[in-house]
Amino acid sequence: MSQNSPTPIAIRLHPPISSITAYDYPSARLCDEAGVQLILVGDSLGMVVAGNEDTTSVTLDHMIYHTEMVRRGVKNAVLVSDLPIHTYDTPEQTVASSRRLIEAGADAVKLEGGFRQIQKIEALTEAGIPICGHLGMLPQRVREEGGYKKKGKTESEAEQIVGAARALEEAGVFAIILESVVSSVAERVTKAVTVPTIGIGAGNCCDGEIRVLHDVIGGYPWFVPPFAKVYGNSAEVTSNAVSEFVRDIEG
Ligand code: KIV
Repeated sequence: MSQNSPTPIAIRLHPPISSITAYDYPSARLCDEAGVQLILVGDSLGMVVAGNEDTTSVTLDHMIYHTEMVRRGVKNAVLVSDLPIHTYDTPEQTVASSRRLIEAGADAVKLEGGFRQIQKIEALTEAGIPICGHLGMLPQRVREEGGYKKKGKTESEAEQIVGAARALEEAGVFAIILESVVSSVAERVTKAVTVPTIGIGAGNCCDGEIRVLHDVIGGYPWFVPPFAKVYGNSAEVTSNAVSEFVRDIEG
């Protein structure tokens, strides 16, 4: 780190780590008050909030807007914001985009990918911006990949993921999200690095778990990922309440 670099904010997570996405003030406040350790303003908002097919239409301005809302609701959790696709194509752009998310209230940023992101992560570390990695299935590349596929099924893919995790740690990430990774490979990664791993669809051997809020509360009934345990039925509660209101007024 150069002499002029700011001191990075210390991100403290205590395994086992519960983490969840939030996209607006009420959901962020409820999640924070429920005690989750990490709240992610995920670019999954492109799907569960905006109704698009994937995350690729999310822009930096969208993320800034939602980060500001979430910041107002979060007092205790670590607030991480996603860098959307094409906002971190070069190290310089990565730092500039991340600074805007930090100004909007994020404590840290997250980007997707392994070896090809190392210089960008080093640039963020140098700039004193805390960064979370994301390996395995990368939703921003779903179109190139032709769908959401499990990662780490072959030994060479497994070695690639473990190697990338080590490189990410060396470049300075404070945690690594493992999405849709074969459970035994997620376990290998967790043993290979000292930073916490946070799984989603990656078995039970990570240092923590992250979920999309709507999957946890039953808020997006049109699609539920196979690994997601649904803990509530907010879609039904909303639908019933609004139907009763309609009956009250029009019945
Ligand atoms: O955007 C998001 O919600 C995510 C989680 C699925 C980890 O990246």
